[in-house]
Amino acid sequence: MSTHIAAAPGEIAPIVLFPGDPRRARWIAENFLEDAVCYSEVRGMLGFTGTWNGHHVSAQGSGMGQPSMSIYANELFDSYDVQTIVRVGSCGALTERVGMRDIIIANGACTDSGINRVRFHGQDYAPVADFGLLRAAVEAAEGMQLDSAVHVGLLFSSDQFYSTRTELTEPLVQHGALAVEMETSALYTLAAYRQRRALSICTVSDHLVTHEETTALEREQTFGEMIEIALRAATA
Ligand code: HPA
Repeated sequence: MSTHIAAAPGEIAPIVLFPGDPRRARWIAENFLEDAVCYSEVRGMLGFTGTWNGHHVSAQGSGMGQPSMSIYANELFDSYDVQTIVRVGSCGALTERVGMRDIIIANGACTDSGINRVRFHGQDYAPVADFGLLRAAVEAAEGMQLDSAVHVGLLFSSDQFYSTRTELTEPLVQHGALAVEMETSALYTLAAYRQRRALSICTVSDHLVTHEETTALEREQTFGEMIEIALRAATA
């Protein structure tokens, strides 16, 4: 086992779906994976391994924010030799170009986080998705009958859910950021460092321009489409 994950070596699949909410990991296991087994409950951050269309796949909670997500991503890469992580999360739309329950496949992520500033000695690193996974996700989405619109674009990975300086996101939106979430920038950076594949797919759960919010039922239904895209892309 690693410091925060109680799995034995080999119990975690090379492909991991990575929701923030550990109960979403259980929901993925119960609704998409066959013969799913829970391999870790440490800190309530549930992880499961099963099969999808004959492929071994795990679903592991990451927690919220880049520090929590980074702990799990580091341990998945380093202790369990995970090759592919697809974050399946929620995000808040920053522009009316994006609607409620739309799905965003993130080709890159900007951030206000200090993590990469420290890592790169103040230089600006550009965290980007694995291109093969990105292309596979787009192709998967194009091959499905989806209720949700799909966008490929930039996420803003913020360190704060409750920011008092919301005006600071304006230049990011002017330069293409579609939505805010709290994990992708660090995930793409860690995957690049370890030479593994990572992709973030997020559904819009709240709209910071129109102030709409999804119901729990709507989130669950849209989440299903996103999981299907993630599974098809990761196993393509
Ligand atoms: N802010 C940050 N992260 C989020 C949001 C938000 O509005 N919605 C979903 N994840």
